[in-house]
Amino acid sequence: MTQEHRTTAAGNELSASFLAAKKRSDDTLSTLQSNPGAFTMLTGDRPTGRLHLGHYFGSIRERVAMQNRGVRTNIIIADYQVITDRDTTDHIRENVYNLVLDYMAAGIDPKKTMIFTHSAVPAENQLMLPFLSLVTEAELHRNPTVKAEMEASGHALTGLLLTYPVHQACDILFCKANVVPIGKDNLPHVEITRTIARRFNERYAQDSPVFDEPSAILSDAPEIPGLDGRKMSKSYGNSIMLGATAEETSKLIRKSPTDSQRTITFDPVGRPQVSALLTTAGLVTGRRPEDIAAEISGAGAGALKAYVIESVNAFLAEHRQRRAELARDMDYVRDVIHDGNARANAIAEETLAQVRDAMGMTY
Ligand code: TRP
Repeated sequence: MTQEHRTTAAGNELSASFLAAKKRSDDTLSTLQSNPGAFTMLTGDRPTGRLHLGHYFGSIRERVAMQNRGVRTNIIIADYQVITDRDTTDHIRENVYNLVLDYMAAGIDPKKTMIFTHSAVPAENQLMLPFLSLVTEAELHRNPTVKAEMEASGHALTGLLLTYPVHQACDILFCKANVVPIGKDNLPHVEITRTIARRFNERYAQDSPVFDEPSAILSDAPEIPGLDGRKMSKSYGNSIMLGATAEETSKLIRKSPTDSQRTITFDPVGRPQVSALLTTAGLVTGRRPEDIAAEISGAGAGALKAYVIESVNAFLAEHRQRRAELARDMDYVRDVIHDGNARANAIAEETLAQVRDAMGMTY
């Protein structure tokens, strides 16, 4: 759940490595426009809760677009990543099913996109062993996102939290993905994936490389603030869930805080709460927040909220209807996961066989 739980930690956006990654992302996207068939995408989510509007505009919409453009698309539900920084798997099954419902309601077609759960693909997980031999402990400790997550968890660094970026390299490389849409907090993980691919080839597969170095795809979508102007997060109760009812959404928007100035203006720094409402309305209507502010102007916060409620609920109406229809047949949802897992296993076994072969481990 990119926006929600990943503490931003990729560091300075102007750093040389960030700029190089951004350029690679832009270059890859432009090649992808002209030759989508040459690309395999993998990205995913931790099943820690429901998806909200921030996820939709930040990542889901882009996945659907890639799928429909003819990229081979894969979505991993990273269930083992849930226990990197928390010590319970409560609600995990429910969370996985709800993710799949939201993906499909948003336009992910399981015939085109392979949706699978990490824990159900043993051969993928086995790549972890050779891959771990290709990175040093110092490199693992240097990962800024891991550091931030450890600090936020308030716990000692576990072996899994330290090594999960290598796990994520297995997610990406087992299906030979070459494009990985992520938020910038996940950039260090794609960097380590590139390192692992390169080192594996250098060490074991010089004549016929097994892995390509994948490119991160960094979204250009603006980060949507939560309704109170803070970061959108489940724990703040300030997020609009894709699967909430229209009534729940109205209630949430109605009780969101504003300020004492009557006239509505768009000023994200000076008036974060009013501006968050305007940004939200702007995204779902495709209008400029400034124009919405000018239109509402002296009518005040009540009128603004009425507009946000109406436009958000209109935007999500179809999604919610499709979601409700899909939820009537949970056997189908289960079949989608089982089918994705079967396909992922076949691919992972093939890649693992190539890896063992390159290493001479065939007996
Ligand atoms: N770490 C990602 C997140 O929490 C989820 C994820 C797991 C992922 N495996 C991945 C993303 C592979 C991209 C590629 O947001």
